[in-house]
Amino acid sequence: MADCNVVVLISGSGSNLQALIDSIAHDGNPARIAAVISNRADAYGLERAKQAGITTRVLDHKQFDGREAFDAALVEAIDGFDPHLVVLAGFMRILTGGFVRHYEGRLLNIHPSLLPKYKGLHTHQRALEAGDSEHGCSVHFVTEELDGGPLVVQAVVPVESGDTPELLAQRVHGQEHHIYPLAMRWFAEGRLRLNDTGAQLDGTDLPATGYLIRT
Ligand code: GAR
Repeated sequence: MADCNVVVLISGSGSNLQALIDSIAHDGNPARIAAVISNRADAYGLERAKQAGITTRVLDHKQFDGREAFDAALVEAIDGFDPHLVVLAGFMRILTGGFVRHYEGRLLNIHPSLLPKYKGLHTHQRALEAGDSEHGCSVHFVTEELDGGPLVVQAVVPVESGDTPELLAQRVHGQEHHIYPLAMRWFAEGRLRLNDTGAQLDGTDLPATGYLIRT
């Protein structure tokens, strides 16, 4: 199977990046991380990439005159690595419509909630405050709607009595590290596609929740 070039964008710790790196060591995974790009020079994920021998770039959004200029430079940097897939792994920037359209069908994001619930920030606290019995995380194709876009896979995590945002975040994070490598591998193997009706796995439309995993 031909290699699938992946560029990963990060802003922080990069634990999802680490899970993606580790998953590629598995037999027959056609994904290859060509580069990791961060908008923050102090993102720990850059160290993880360097330790894995992956090329890194820093593009500090504060050095650019506005969102359009930053995203244009980001596209240029990403496209220098000829990606088949671009993976947002804790990349905490709102992207312009132009950027999202440029990578339509080959741009994935992970979000720490069961989308469409709790778009944006503080998702664990919001799930607890709402008294939800279930929480989780989602991988989705990125569209111009923030944290919208057809869902690929969700992992459901039961909320336990005595949970704090930190405890819940830890368990959700654990599931993120399972579902993101899964989605990347599906895409790299040509099994996952975005078409007019939404996300498809093995030629069949995925349900509105994406592929659902209960833990
Ligand atoms: C993850 O929990 C990811 O779901 C979240 O940022 C964290 C990054 O952690 N992303 C978003 O909230 C995007 N809307 P990591 O740097 O350890 O992978």
